Amino acid sequence: MSRIQLEGATKRFGGVAAVDEVSLDIGDGEFLVLLGPSGCGKSTLLRAIAGLAPLTAGRITLDGKDITHTPPRDRDLAMVFQSYALYPHLSVARNIGFPLRARGRSKAQARDKVDEVAKVLDLADFLERKPRELSGGQRQRVALGRALVRDPGAFLMDEPLSNLDAKLRTATRSELTELHRRLGTTFVYVTHDQVEAMTMATRIAVLNKGKLEQVGTPAQVYDEPASTFVASFLGAPAMNLLPATLVSRGGSLFAVASELEVPLGITAELPETEVTLGIRPEHLRLGGERRDLRGIVRLLENLGSEEVAHCSVGDTRVCVRGPRPLGLAAGDDVSLSTDPAHVHLFHRDSGRRLLWAPSLSPAPTKEFQV
Ligand SMILES: Nc1ncnc2c1ncn2[C@@H]1O[C@H](COP(=O)(O)OP(=O)(O)OP(=O)(O)O)[C@@H](O)[C@H]1O
Ligand SMILES: [Mg+2]
Repeated sequence: MSRIQLEGATKRFGGVAAVDEVSLDIGDGEFLVLLGPSGCGKSTLLRAIAGLAPLTAGRITLDGKDITHTPPRDRDLAMVFQSYALYPHLSVARNIGFPLRARGRSKAQARDKVDEVAKVLDLADFLERKPRELSGGQRQRVALGRALVRDPGAFLMDEPLSNLDAKLRTATRSELTELHRRLGTTFVYVTHDQVEAMTMATRIAVLNKGKLEQVGTPAQVYDEPASTFVASFLGAPAMNLLPATLVSRGGSLFAVASELEVPLGITAELPETEVTLGIRPEHLRLGGERRDLRGIVRLLENLGSEEVAHCSVGDTRVCVRGPRPLGLAAGDDVSLSTDPAHVHLFHRDSGRRLLWAPSLSPAPTKEFQV
């Protein structure tokens, strides 16, 4: 059992809040990913949960018990760092068994547990080696093993895959997902890599400048981003964001950006309103019957099975993504259209999502009536 709850968690360094009133309920057995750009406070938040960076304000509970002021060693949480922090002069077996020996278990007890964990992590053949005789991926597994032997209530991991090359990272990603499923233990995992977040998380918590922007399943944060920040952080290339105007015509609403007119399929009389229109690159079609966005192809990117066309539309860059070949060349004129079901609308100033999407709710909400 390990449910971790944060209430108004705040950590200040001098006058600056690295973590700013974060409230988050991490359920038992979740794989929660803390995601955000460099400096947004991910590591600080994780270290606060571990007890390594005491909070300035707010509360942390573990299974309902207040642990805000509990020393790290009494929290029943195991931390895995980006730098593996292995003891170079100790064998793999002794590195893995270290926490057990430090807690006073006998050599034999430690050995049994180490063997069990080594089997889970496929390290049984390396137990007598020193860390320097291992590959980066194997070292990472030893660091994981050292956390695993303790049978902690939860694992806290800070960018554990960032020192691995691309191929190994992909392989270790699926190993971790598998391990999580097998153990059923709570994982709190820090990364700035949206692919890691999307593929491994049961829920993603997106942080921006110390504040929580959105918490949701990978599908929720991708399909219904709560803000332009989340919309542009998840997805590669990022969601296209265009200045647009909401216009009522004969009682029906349209989002108008340059020559593009998207009928929103709702009836409402609104004064003209400035918004930001979001369309993911995979939701733009080349040509179409509707009124289109007109642009010029500037650059084509070959992604293997897919291709991305970077186009300029007025002063805005717009990306289109589709199966390769798209049949375009740099310098081509293009017209782009979209399906109204796939547009996102954001408040022009605050960047917050206007709580409406044609497929999700039939009527504009109060917040939508800007
Ligand atoms: N010990 C410290 N003293 C002063 N400021 C700190 C300290 N630790 C972190 N900070 C500041 O707090 C902010 C958040 O840092 P943190 O390390 O949590 O970011 P992060 O999201 O983990 O970034 P990265 O992805 O680069 O690891 C940064 O502005 C950082 O400079
Ligand atoms: Mg960090």
